[in-house]
Amino acid sequence: MLSRDEATALLVEYGEGLPWTRHCVAVADAAEAVGALLEDHHAIDVDSLWSAGLLHDIGRYATHDPIMHGVEGYNLLMDLGHPEAAFVCASHVAFGLRAGEAAQFGLPARDFIPRTPTERIVPLVDLLFEGDRPTTLEIRFASLRQRNAGNDSFLGMLDRGYGEAKSFLTHLDLEIGHSIVDVVASCTRCS
Ligand SMILES: [Fe+2]
Repeated sequence: MLSRDEATALLVEYGEGLPWTRHCVAVADAAEAVGALLEDHHAIDVDSLWSAGLLHDIGRYATHDPIMHGVEGYNLLMDLGHPEAAFVCASHVAFGLRAGEAAQFGLPARDFIPRTPTERIVPLVDLLFEGDRPTTLEIRFASLRQRNAGNDSFLGMLDRGYGEAKSFLTHLDLEIGHSIVDVVASCTRCS
């Protein structure tokens, strides 16, 4: 997995200080805060988690399309030899793509479903931010639905993603004994 310095260098190179990179930093820092609380329960490399969080949206250098930015990030990081971080780019879209959906968007025809703690924490924390401002899943999904009104196939994927994200959030709240929403909102280095 990428070191923090390598991930930071890539975001500087491809993000060029653009506003969307602030979201990436907020997600990385909050993902680390969540990961630190889970270290007693799971084998989590918080450096890798932070790096994956920082780069999950790097495909925005090419497009802000709600799906294709994940594909662009996947292609870029695969080309650069970072398959784990590349997988997070592709699988954070709508909290996971099934093989048929992946193939439809030009990815290899296999499931891009987040399964490891890092793969699942990054998209969850991503969904707890509107830009670099902490929010709730309900508000973020309402905003995503509004922004993608008319895009019925994406809206269907969003509904499934909401179910996945909500059940993972509930699971983590119980496991940690803290509200993940509060952990993200109070992450001191975020926003
Ligand atoms: Fe994204």
